Amino acid sequence: MKRSKRFEILENRPVHNDGFVKEWPEVGLIAIGSPSDPIPSIKVENGKIVEMDGKKREDFDFIDSFLANHAINIENAEKAMAMDSLSIARMLTDINVSRDEIIKITTALTPAKLVEVVDKLNVVEMMMAVQKMRARRTPSNQCHVTNLRDNPVQIAADAAESALRGFDEMETTVGIVRYAPFNALSLLVGGQVGRPGILTQCSLEEATELKLGMLGYTAYAETISVYGTEDVFVDGDDTPYSKAFLASAYASRGLKMRFTSGTGSEVQMGYAEGKSMLYLEARCIMITKGAGSQGLQNGSVSCIGVPAAVPGGIRAVLGENLITTMLDLEVASSNDQTFTHSDIRRTARTMMQFLPGTDFICSGYSCTPNYDNMFAGSNWDAEDYDDWVIMERDLKIDAGLVPVKEEDVVAIRNKAAKAIQAVFRELGLPAITDEEVEAATYAHGSKDMPARNVVEDLKAAQELLTRGVTGLDIVKALHKGGFQEISERLLNLLKQRIVGDYLHASAIFDENYNVISAVNDINDYMGPGTGYRLEGEKWEKIKNITNALDPDKM
Ligand code: 5AD
Ligand code: CA
Repeated sequence: MKRSKRFEILENRPVHNDGFVKEWPEVGLIAIGSPSDPIPSIKVENGKIVEMDGKKREDFDFIDSFLANHAINIENAEKAMAMDSLSIARMLTDINVSRDEIIKITTALTPAKLVEVVDKLNVVEMMMAVQKMRARRTPSNQCHVTNLRDNPVQIAADAAESALRGFDEMETTVGIVRYAPFNALSLLVGGQVGRPGILTQCSLEEATELKLGMLGYTAYAETISVYGTEDVFVDGDDTPYSKAFLASAYASRGLKMRFTSGTGSEVQMGYAEGKSMLYLEARCIMITKGAGSQGLQNGSVSCIGVPAAVPGGIRAVLGENLITTMLDLEVASSNDQTFTHSDIRRTARTMMQFLPGTDFICSGYSCTPNYDNMFAGSNWDAEDYDDWVIMERDLKIDAGLVPVKEEDVVAIRNKAAKAIQAVFRELGLPAITDEEVEAATYAHGSKDMPARNVVEDLKAAQELLTRGVTGLDIVKALHKGGFQEISERLLNLLKQRIVGDYLHASAIFDENYNVISAVNDINDYMGPGTGYRLEGEKWEKIKNITNALDPDKM
């Protein structure tokens, strides 16, 4: 066949390297509306749900039972379920109906009904709904702080810079598992150098992650995964009950935590039961609610390639974020893992959360170059900072980041590197040299860092735990090492464990350790003139990108 030159050129565009698939409901490759999805229904007898979404109680799997017993507001269920889905959908976009009023209805629905309601909306209406329904009035952002060599000096410096750039939460993980205590420690110290009140976490296997939290190396946890079918849970030796137990363990020691789920995981594990991705995700969101977790990281997250491959998949991803807000949960709305070769497509996907604002627009904006992101390739990374801030400036949107000056970044990176150097010295860990401090101050990524002695570091990282070094020892090390101010910040963070206020939904801290949450900063959006607006000091900050011409200097 003689080829069209136009088609040849189109086939060479980046988007042609992406994977797509036609709908294939039998294996769950369908965003919304699989022929096997149940029809919404409910029957309550003597205060007990005896039928849900067409299934009788005796036929429930353990997810159905968990949802029926713990995740549905039974008092209101029959009334809410009897409402027309289209009218509930209209309430979501109606500026005259308050969030409070809607939550009473949406927390009394079944998974199939939640999906039916959301499927009545187009993406612009879904964004309007997210703008009103997200829990915290002020939107925020979370970053990933990792590197290829688990270099602790670089982690501390990157964390400090990220705080300056505006992130409120920071997540690390490891290349080599045994480095975990070092990564958590470096992130904790670097974050507090950057700005008081930064929350940090270290994503690990559950037992280790819990241990580091208990010891005071982290301030919150996030990767407590839940899934939409029984078989996927069983595959991982888990149940909704074991996850609920884990949630309580964190709460018992005053640590903020949220669950993680997302469309596509059940397809990827091969147990989708022929159900649509959003239906299964609605079950996950309800498990989160039922387990008493204050929030959820969702939006497909690490499985984004799956929904992105099917028609309407990116719309369904926004749909899952929206359902999370409809259940009165904090939402950290993913936008982390890469799913496309196309810059146009990755930006379009992000606008769904960037424009309305969510509790955390990215649940992992990579603060390093892509090669240092140990979570897998990232949709947004350090090289996109200026694009992100200019998009905020173009649209007058607060998406969590602010422009920064080079000299301020250099100074804060240097301070963080010196602080972690002092902590290592005081705790008797392998020395951080002045050369490493200098490299971390000016580095872009781990390729700019001198190599460390891996064997020695791994041994020392493990010894931190066997020696029983806790958050308080880190406070003391900072104090003895000449970083009194940072030591006080860290102590303040640890004190918050006892106060417990940051267990409230959507909690972050301001610079004075005041909680900003869905309790004292409740989203009151009800149309023009209400809700969060980018104005005042913050808008002045975002206006002032360094690469704009200044009439005063011409
Ligand atoms: N469903 C459930 N858990 C997920 N995670 C990421 N994506 C999903 C998803 N779609 C969790 C996993 C992973 C971590 C980065 O986040 O626990 O290890
Ligand atoms: Ca995250």
